[in-house]
Amino acid sequence: MTKESAKNAAELEKLCFSAPWSYEMLCNQGLCEQGEFLCAFVNGEFAGYAGMICVLDEGQICNVAVCPLFRRMGVGEALMQAQRKAALSRGLSVMMLEVRASNTAAQKLYEKLGWEKVGVRKNFYASPREDGVLYNLYLS
Ligand SMILES: CC(C)(COP(=O)(O)OP(=O)(O)OC[C@H]1O[C@@H](n2cnc3c(N)ncnc32)[C@H](O)[C@@H]1OP(=O)(O)O)[C@@H](O)C(=O)NCCC(=O)NCCS
Repeated sequence: MTKESAKNAAELEKLCFSAPWSYEMLCNQGLCEQGEFLCAFVNGEFAGYAGMICVLDEGQICNVAVCPLFRRMGVGEALMQAQRKAALSRGLSVMMLEVRASNTAAQKLYEKLGWEKVGVRKNFYASPREDGVLYNLYLS
């Protein structure tokens, strides 16, 4: 992610999430040493992004979103596979994420890529209030 693509990502956040990350948050987290923020482009056009924060040997996926025009084309899968490669090259042992209980599209994506459902956080999300499903991907 660059400062330029962070602008696209901030617009996509507004479209996808009830508590969107701002441009400043994306720059602060995405451009620092612990941040692994990757963008996807289709024919040069911004198509989506995935962000991971790395602490010690753990990577927390904090954002994954694909522009509506480019969904169901393998972009989300490519982003998550690229994050797995990045995690491996950083020597991480586990990747983690949480997802709204109603978000079956994202859950199917994670399960297709071998992520394991490891728990549920009751009422984790607001607007609307909803449980968060926890997934881990073990790398070692
Ligand atoms: C979830 C999201 C990132 C998927 O991105 P995508 O580029 O459309 O996904 P892909 O085309 O790479 O699909 C990969 C797999 O995910 C699953 N999947 C993706 N979208 C799906 C849908 N609408 N319904 C069912 N399964 C779906 C399928 O298993 C698919 O594999 P298949 O094509 O072999 O069936 C996208 O729908 C999105 O941006 N949603 C809004 C933001 C969001 O919910 N982010 C996740 C927050 S945790």
